[in-house]
Amino acid sequence: MSLLEKHGILERSPTLLFIFSLVAVSIGGIVEIAPLFYLQNTIEKVDGMRPYTPLELAGRNIYVREGCYLCHSQMIRPFRDEVERYGPYSLAAESMYDHPFQWGSKRTGPDLARVGDRYSDTWHVEHLINPRALVPESVMPPYSFLVRTAQRTDDIGEHLVANQMVGVPYSEDMIANAEADMLAQVNPDSDAADALVERYGENVRVRDFDGDPDKLTEMDALVAYLQMLGTLVDFELYDADAPENLR
Ligand code: HEC
Repeated sequence: MSLLEKHGILERSPTLLFIFSLVAVSIGGIVEIAPLFYLQNTIEKVDGMRPYTPLELAGRNIYVREGCYLCHSQMIRPFRDEVERYGPYSLAAESMYDHPFQWGSKRTGPDLARVGDRYSDTWHVEHLINPRALVPESVMPPYSFLVRTAQRTDDIGEHLVANQMVGVPYSEDMIANAEADMLAQVNPDSDAADALVERYGENVRVRDFDGDPDKLTEMDALVAYLQMLGTLVDFELYDADAPENLR
C-alpha cells in the first residue's frame, strides 16, 4: 500500500481524520507556543516603564468600568497613517503592566495609546463632562458624574495587591502606602508627594487634575490616567535595535 492509499483510510473515516488533525494541529501549536514560556525576551524590556501610581490605576479601573475601550483602542499599529496621526507605534512593553490590556481594534473614537500630555487637564475635564461642547460632531457620551463622584481610596491597596499577584512589580512599600500615595498625587505641595515621586519616579504628574483642589474625585483619577498614557517611554531616545540601551 502506498503512502497515498494509507492516507485514503484516514480520509474515509471522519473520526480518525478528526483525531489525526487534532494531533497535527496540537504539534503545530506546541511548537509555536511552548518557546514563549522559556524565552527571556518575549517582551523586551524598555527604559521608562513603571507600574501605574495608585491614582492612575484607579483611573484605569474607571476607564474599564465605563467601557471606554468599547470605542477607543490603545494600540498604534506600525503603519504610516497611524504613526503620523497618533505618534510612535505602540511597543509590547508599554502594556506589560496592563491587566487586562486595552489594545482593541474597534475605533469609534481615536486611539488613546498616546493621548497623554496632548491636551490640558481642563480640556479633558470639559470634554468628559460634555464632549459636544468641544467637538460638536462627537458621538461620545458625557461622563459629567465623574466630577461629582468622590474617588474611593480605602480599597486601592487591594487593587495593587491584585496586580502584584499577576506580575506587576509593586513593592510592599508601595502597597502599604497606596492610599497615601493616591491622595498625595493631587497635593503637589505635601511631603507625601515627595515620597510618591521617590517610589514611582520623576515621571509622575503630581497636581490637581479636575480643577477642584479640595476634593479627590473620579475625574481626578481618570484624567491622571489619560495624561500619562503613552508617555513613559521617551521616543527621542528610544532605539528599536537596542531597546535597553538608550541612544
Ligand atoms: C460611544 C463611543 C465612545 C465612548 C464609549 C467613549 N468615547 Fe471617547 N471619543 C469618542 C469619539 C467619537 C471621539 C472623537 C470626538 C471627540 O473628541 O469627542 C472621542 C474622543 C475622545 C478623546 C479625545 C481623543 C483625541 O485624541 O482627540 C478622549 C481623551 C476620550 N474620547 C476619552 C474617553 C474616555 C476616557 C471614555 C470613557 C470614560 C470614552 N472616551 C468613551 C467616542 C467614545
